[in-house]
Amino acid sequence: MKHPFNDCGVIARYREFLPVTDATPVISLSEGSTPLIHSPKLSAITGGEVYVKYEGLNPTGSFKDRGMTMAISKAAEEGAHTVLCASTGNTSAAAAAYAARAGMKCAVLLPAGRIAGGKMVQAYIYGASVIAIRGNFDDALRLVRELGETGDFAIVNSINPYRIEGQKTAAFEIIEELGNAPDIHILPVGNAGNITAYWKGYKEFKELGRSGKLPRMLGVQAAGAAPLYHGAPMDNPETVATAIRIGRPASWDGAKAAVSESGGCFEIVEDSEILAAQKWLASNEGIFVEPASAAPVAALFKCFNRSGKPTQCDCCPFRQIQPGAKVVLTVTGHGLKDPDTAKHAVTAPIETDATAQAVREALAKISN
Ligand code: F0G
Repeated sequence: MKHPFNDCGVIARYREFLPVTDATPVISLSEGSTPLIHSPKLSAITGGEVYVKYEGLNPTGSFKDRGMTMAISKAAEEGAHTVLCASTGNTSAAAAAYAARAGMKCAVLLPAGRIAGGKMVQAYIYGASVIAIRGNFDDALRLVRELGETGDFAIVNSINPYRIEGQKTAAFEIIEELGNAPDIHILPVGNAGNITAYWKGYKEFKELGRSGKLPRMLGVQAAGAAPLYHGAPMDNPETVATAIRIGRPASWDGAKAAVSESGGCFEIVEDSEILAAQKWLASNEGIFVEPASAAPVAALFKCFNRSGKPTQCDCCPFRQIQPGAKVVLTVTGHGLKDPDTAKHAVTAPIETDATAQAVREALAKISN
């Protein structure tokens, strides 16, 4: 019997635009349909209409669930027993969860010591076999490619094209919600699957007449992990935003095409700007995201000074921004994924006696 909840999730919502058939068992956790939240404060800074696509509200806390429902459903269709991925933490969380639901084994290769605490816990609690590689994400992905050649594993990194197919649905949702594509779309870039997927989604809906235009794509990298910005792979990427600590993005060509075809650009932001933007978004708009996801907000601040004037960046799509232009920022993962990095915002709580008077006095001290 068909269960009503099977009608949720990105495959159910966008079935006709995805490579699935009646023979595809749909493995879903009701991912997608995430909120597009209007940001009055970011709008005031830019003079545009700024929205935040809050992908941290997916079932495992990041946008990876959109691609993983596709990758695991297709792996199930093909009779796979074990899935494998390299990850900076979010892909592994999603792979582990969807594999668990499909009754498959999942092995994840993670850069030792460089995975955010919440993501590490997810891999274990969903039952994955966790291998910590003495190396970075790029080393782990090289090993995944090598191990994939044996045919023993179904690879669920975004080198699996079904991942891109699933992730493009976020662009569909934005178009449906706004009634058109935005003028500018800003998102963090690491392995570059997501920017590739969004651009594919925007182009597909444009070709189908569901959108009247295409956005300019602005891909944001951490300054210490910015191979696409510099136009060359990096051997030792380094950033506090561990999710995007990547030097050899697999979807290099897709990301380049998205930016050049759309008239956009790559931008870089310093770790200090990322952490400041993370705190700003949480304390001004109530949206708590992990560091990588704050990179688009940091880029927006870099492109505009606080009085709303575009700064002097040669490539910036904002140089052409018209008042009221629509800007979408994808914030890719939930802040609770990486509580340790967010500790920069934490001060020791004031401890008081359990009386109303003591609490009033303590509050007065904080507000002073
Ligand atoms: N934001 C977050 C929170 C991510 O986890 C990632 C990638 C990105 C942005 C960048 O997306 O790779 O498609 O350009 N995380 C991967 C992972 C690498 O293993 O979880 P991308």
